[in-house]
Amino acid sequence: TSVNDELKPVYHFRPPRHWINDPNGPLYYKGIYHLFYQYNPYGSVWGNIVWAHSVSADMINWKALDPAIYPSQPFDIYGCWSGSATILPGDKPVILYTGIDPQKRQIQNIAFPSNLSDPYLREWTKPDHNPVIDPSDSAVNASAFRDPTTAWYTPHNQRWSLVIGTRRGSRGVAVLYKSKDFIKWTKAQHPLHSAKGTGMWECPDVYPVALEGNQGLDTGVVGAGVKHVFKVSLDETRFEYYTLGTYYPKADKYIPDANSTDNRNGLRYDYGNFYASKSFYDPAKKRRILWGWANESDSAHADKDKGWAGVQAIPRAVWLDSNGRQLVQWPIEELETLRHKRRSVKNRNIPSGGSFEVKNILTAQADVEVTFDVGSLENAEAFDPLYATDAQALCAKMTAKTKGGVGPFGLLVLASADQEEATAVFFRIFKAQDNHVVLMCHDPTRSSTREMIYKPTFAGFVDVDIEKTKKISLRSLIDHSVVESFGAGGKTCITSRVYPSVAIGRKAHMFVFNNGAEDVKVSELNAWEMKAPEMNDDIIF
Ligand code: FRU
Repeated sequence: TSVNDELKPVYHFRPPRHWINDPNGPLYYKGIYHLFYQYNPYGSVWGNIVWAHSVSADMINWKALDPAIYPSQPFDIYGCWSGSATILPGDKPVILYTGIDPQKRQIQNIAFPSNLSDPYLREWTKPDHNPVIDPSDSAVNASAFRDPTTAWYTPHNQRWSLVIGTRRGSRGVAVLYKSKDFIKWTKAQHPLHSAKGTGMWECPDVYPVALEGNQGLDTGVVGAGVKHVFKVSLDETRFEYYTLGTYYPKADKYIPDANSTDNRNGLRYDYGNFYASKSFYDPAKKRRILWGWANESDSAHADKDKGWAGVQAIPRAVWLDSNGRQLVQWPIEELETLRHKRRSVKNRNIPSGGSFEVKNILTAQADVEVTFDVGSLENAEAFDPLYATDAQALCAKMTAKTKGGVGPFGLLVLASADQEEATAVFFRIFKAQDNHVVLMCHDPTRSSTREMIYKPTFAGFVDVDIEKTKKISLRSLIDHSVVESFGAGGKTCITSRVYPSVAIGRKAHMFVFNNGAEDVKVSELNAWEMKAPEMNDDIIF
């Protein structure tokens, strides 16, 4: 096998070859999970976009079907871009997606399953009355008008609602459309939501979360005991931001909570390489699932050479944190069926400057969970408030190599035996004016000796009371060129793509390290080698 094959993720969702981007229209139908995604059937760079289609019983093992929606009509002849599925009453799935027409305008089309008795929903019909939403009817910018959400039903006026991402100047806008019959859609008087200075809103997502517990809710649920999430993907920063707030169905408005920052300083699903995500309600396990795309970080030239580009992050269950201030995300439990050989460590002290290796499993293809106990916080470095809204800059300045007070401590993954090549996943604890601040980082600056690779440090703060718990947990999913990490049980998530030149396959090592002045203790570590699931290699026709 070539190096390119050895860096190819094994348990993250991907087709056998070619380019992928956004997850589209995830849905559950007759016992089967469906995932569609933006796909170039002819190459490993973006272009010729169709909706590729895969099916699964567990969202971990996947079978590929033929593309479900592909350019075939004037209303989508230049591409079938992102969109969502809605389950209509009577368990009838329907898809709304953005088509590119002969004038290169972005218009919204509908497609229905040709045969509802086929649980694989192999064939889709596009009725002649497409497009169902045309930008010229409503004076929106036809080159920035895309990615319709799942629609939800509002009983008070017996209408369906959905939003589409657009912009007015640099204002991000979620235009609201309504329909009585799902065929004729009319633009509402004002957007569901908008915000200044963000640029184009791609792939909006709107859904309810329960105030208590981690069960998911169907998209139309409103009322007491519920809050709403409003998420957008910002093309200008390539990150996804969300607010928590209230949806007022009668006023057709979403209003973020006063303490929920509605701009680039706001909360992110993931502080790394995770974009164009989409959630859906899984009625089988009563949970909301989030799918997001992790692009390559190498050059287009390298992607052509590899013949593959892009994966979907591991699907995550998402719910409201018990503190009500943020979401929590956790890899779906089905992932654990891939856990194979295990290595455990308990109550091991890591002295200042120390490290130990996690051996005897294939750490290039692993799932590791570790809990760190911190001792005294007395030596924590002072927090510079200049970085209060820029975790990423703080992590770029103080990397895994920068000695600290409490931390940096964490993992070196996809590491060479001499640790010269490694991606660091770590925490660092600071002392601020009246509390402690926990920073979580991915530092891939030494992840590869190869050139022309984008190696940004990624970071986010972790909203935990470390003074009280004196503990912090980390889970990292390592998959050859993917590192996907979950801090404090999924409060802060970071995904990176890295391309080691030495630490490949069996030559990849994993270490636990502590570069702080204070000792830390690994109270428990479990690392599993992961089996390879079925990953779209068989095509069912
Ligand atoms: C986001 C995006 C969407 C668009 C699709 C095209 O990555 O740009 O806005 O619909 O990709 O492939």
